[in-house]
Amino acid sequence: MKHLTHMEDLGVAGLQQVIRQALSWKQADPGKHLADALLGMLFFNPSLRTRASFEAVMARGGGSSLVLESGKGAWAMEHRDGIPMDGDRPEHVREAAPVLSRYVDLLAVRSFAALEDDAQDEADPMMRAFRAHATVPLISMESAREHLCQGLADVLTLAERFGGPDGDLKGQPVTLSWAPHRKPLPKAVPNSFLLSAAAAGCEVRLAHPPGFELPAAVMQQADDLAAQSGGSVYVSHDQSAAVAGSRAVYAKAWGPVLPCAGDAPAMMQAHPDWQVDSRLMAKAAGDACFMHCLPVRRDLEVAAELLDSPASAVVDQAENRFHVQRVLVDMALKSFK
Ligand code: CP
Repeated sequence: MKHLTHMEDLGVAGLQQVIRQALSWKQADPGKHLADALLGMLFFNPSLRTRASFEAVMARGGGSSLVLESGKGAWAMEHRDGIPMDGDRPEHVREAAPVLSRYVDLLAVRSFAALEDDAQDEADPMMRAFRAHATVPLISMESAREHLCQGLADVLTLAERFGGPDGDLKGQPVTLSWAPHRKPLPKAVPNSFLLSAAAAGCEVRLAHPPGFELPAAVMQQADDLAAQSGGSVYVSHDQSAAVAGSRAVYAKAWGPVLPCAGDAPAMMQAHPDWQVDSRLMAKAAGDACFMHCLPVRRDLEVAAELLDSPASAVVDQAENRFHVQRVLVDMALKSFK
């Protein structure tokens, strides 16, 4: 049985397999390849794209899905062991995961970062608890550490825009740039873009102001993946220099290194000049695309004029969530037969 929650579950070969299959199924639809399969989705946090795209995958593939929202209709859930459950969470993952596994063929969970301590979020306690106690394959719909489906959809988008045969992206320069926001946001999306682009062999340029470093373990994993794929990763505090000549510019807001002694919302608002706009894009390659996972705050993280320009790939990225997720669902179900 294969859980698909982190890049470590796929590695370089697995990522290539997903991208190749997704490209192939975009040409020749697989039809009702999920006939009779039932996906159980458990959300701890809101969603537009993730929920809609997974429901679409199951419906179009001939399967079906059920959706539960923890704390809203379904019980609030505890993942910690060895503590008396005297708080506001009456259900434990130790029972919930195996119980749900008796009803469905596949589970999917979304649980965001707690945003108190990067080391705690990096350990991914809720997703790891579901991995330990689910008895059917588990797919992440975004966890504290990673947003695997988003990272794969992003690489599929890059592959379609400027990949070689089989979507080959080796050596292609892409920039992931920090962007301003009104409050600290999780690091799962930047972590996953970094890991996926490194595994795809890109020259990944990570640009952020000092104090917004991504977790050391994620940076190390990205370096290891790049070493296997022929890619590279480097970090810059100079946004313009990082973007120069890039084939893609990915904007994303994320919070400062945590725990943080300063005023985190104030830190998020201290670099308004990092907003990504057409003037910055002009430094990238002539055919460069602009990327964001969505939802995006217009004229805060990204200039509205750039989002509305032909360079923007954000809707393609969102569509590609469907295409990579139907491959992941298929892979996970086959791993359980
Ligand atoms: N990008 C993404 O995961 O979107 P949702 O939060 O709307 O699911």
